[in-house]
Amino acid sequence: MAKGKDEDAIHQAAEMIALAVRGRKPLVVLTGAGISAESGVPTFRGPEGLWQGFRPEELATPAAFARDPERVWQWYHWRRQRVAAAEPNAGHRALVALEAVLDDAFTLLTQNVDGLHRRAGSQRVVELHGNLYRARCTRCQGSAAIPDTAEGLVFCPDCGSLSRPDVVWFGERLPEQAWRRAVDAVENASVMLVVGTSGVVQPAAGLVELAAARGVSIVEVNPQRSALTDLARCFIGEKAGVALPRLLARAGLDPASG
Ligand code: OAD
Ligand code: ZN
Repeated sequence: MAKGKDEDAIHQAAEMIALAVRGRKPLVVLTGAGISAESGVPTFRGPEGLWQGFRPEELATPAAFARDPERVWQWYHWRRQRVAAAEPNAGHRALVALEAVLDDAFTLLTQNVDGLHRRAGSQRVVELHGNLYRARCTRCQGSAAIPDTAEGLVFCPDCGSLSRPDVVWFGERLPEQAWRRAVDAVENASVMLVVGTSGVVQPAAGLVELAAARGVSIVEVNPQRSALTDLARCFIGEKAGVALPRLLARAGLDPASG
């Protein structure tokens, strides 16, 4: 067990966070599927990430949707059901508490489409990959909430054409405004927390590379090393729901005060 090493990393990371809080210095967080794992939402690249034998890369693409829109929609309905049955966990809540003390010096960038950060109470959230609860018309591009009862194909409430999930697929650009806010937050940050991402999907992972190039102090929380670990000043090899509350407590903050 590398407990001693984690203890050192937590201590060092807590100091960085305490400094940011005291000086109201901008802090940016990037989260991935790992932060929702303890809520029971499967990650993409674990063995549980498969759905009926398909890898996400085979379903989350424009080509997959063109070929079989019903199957793609079914995958998204299944994911929405999993998320609806889940609750935010202590990791999500710790980030709410951090936002409460940093206020507009806090930005949360998430690759997750599950909406659990907002359900936990986070407000300054930038959804880089869209949201599981919205559909976008393939014809008029209008975006609308997906009805709770949706099962198969989803159609546009305005023009009746086929809608698609309002999420970013492989090979697609990120929403312009979200990307701009993300780059801006990273460029201004003094500290970046990277939580629960494998760091293999671009351009999101590039935000951590950008932070490193700008000299931002990077703290990573992940039970496994990731593609980004070499960029981190501190690596805390634990689950988010354990590490984040401990980190806040060590920084002198109340992890449940959000
Ligand atoms: P991945 O499934 O690639 O990676 C999940 C990461 O979470 C891994 O590094 C795990 O070690 C880590 N992890 C697992 N349990 C954890 C826990 N309890 N606490 C902290 N970390 C934990 O998910 P992402 O990196 O989010 O894109 O994947 C990036 C993108 O690929 C997703 O946003 C999605 C996917 O295709 C789109 O939908 C466009
Ligand atoms: Zn339409």
